[in-house]
Amino acid sequence: KKVVLAYSGGLDTSIILKWLQDEYKCEVVTFTADIGQGEELEPARKKAISLGIKPENIFIEDLKEEFVKDYVFPMFRANAIYEGEYLLGTSIARPLIAKRQAEIAALVGADGVSHGATGKGNDQVRFEMGYLSMNSDLVIIAPWREWDLNSREKLLAYAEKNGISIEKKPGKSPYSMDANLLHISYEGLVLENPNAEPEEDMWRWTVSPEKAPDVAEVIEITYEKGDPVALNGVTLSPATMLTKLNELGCKHGIGRTDIVENRFVGMKSRGCYETPGGTIMLRAHRAIESITLDREAAHFKDEIMPRYAKTIYNGFWFSPEREMMQAAIDKSQESVNGTVKLKLYKGNVSVIGRDSKTNNLFNEAFCTFEEDEVYNQKDAEGFIKLNALRFIISGKNRKKQGKA
Ligand code: ARG
Ligand code: SIN
Repeated sequence: KKVVLAYSGGLDTSIILKWLQDEYKCEVVTFTADIGQGEELEPARKKAISLGIKPENIFIEDLKEEFVKDYVFPMFRANAIYEGEYLLGTSIARPLIAKRQAEIAALVGADGVSHGATGKGNDQVRFEMGYLSMNSDLVIIAPWREWDLNSREKLLAYAEKNGISIEKKPGKSPYSMDANLLHISYEGLVLENPNAEPEEDMWRWTVSPEKAPDVAEVIEITYEKGDPVALNGVTLSPATMLTKLNELGCKHGIGRTDIVENRFVGMKSRGCYETPGGTIMLRAHRAIESITLDREAAHFKDEIMPRYAKTIYNGFWFSPEREMMQAAIDKSQESVNGTVKLKLYKGNVSVIGRDSKTNNLFNEAFCTFEEDEVYNQKDAEGFIKLNALRFIISGKNRKKQGKA
């Protein structure tokens, strides 16, 4: 039997690796993806080798470009936000990891896949929805739902007994975190009291808005078909674009949120997130849409957005309904071309300009408060009267009933 494990190289997935070997007597294949979590990946290889994994069973892949181009950018075309606050940084990464893991399973002839998500969270759902939509025959092993290593103490004892080094990396945060090019998340510890403010040094990426530069920075983003393609006139690949926007956002204290969200599995969960580049992209995308999208197309997008966001949050990226919504969203983006000017200042992203040479629907001849030749103000009278017709009729009835 062979199992492909989503392996970070950290303590928890190292324990899982050992546990799979012992409990399932299976050959373990490790898969470690670079999706911009900002960690060295070579130590994961060393660690896997030290746990007896054959070199040909170690897969380490850079998926940053695919992640941003095929997952993050399509999601941002929708302006997706879950429950009004969460930019879905973890939710959007899981389907890609799951997909690649299932592909590797096919490649090496594995019959199983395994992950390190707990039985209480969203991530287990997202991973397993991904596996099953790729290959419904895969055997799924979720150790957290099976083993009795259900406390930190038992885990550490298991590691000790099996010679897995438990030395903490210097400066490692005690929070439950998940990072990729789009965001970093924090859960657990003091955050489990939704009324308690986390200490400032929890935040790993952004400076606090209070400490951000006193001078604002103006940037310009160019959009093509709803995707950001150039920054200050310089064309950038998707992953490079997001990396640069992250740098700018971090410097100016942009993109921190502290929220309580509803998990798919039922409980509420308090989490803190840093999404610096994503926060800039969301603002910029809405600004370019504001001059290039037809009103009803824009409103229709806004109506399906919560559904689309929930679909991704709940782990249904590879579903017909997500693909249907995506097709509609992508169709709308054909006209979303142009540039947006933004000012970054102490935690804020302000739009200060938007322009489109090819798709501008903002026609000054129609909008002006000055004299114009194209719009006949008298047309508005009938427009309002017919729209009010229902009220005029029901008003007559009210009068008859003496209610005035
Ligand atoms: N609550 C967020 C979500 O469901 C973040 C999850 C973070 N995952 C983790 N393994 N730390 O998307
Ligand atoms: C986990 O339970 O593994 C992390 C939190 C989540 O998936 O929501």
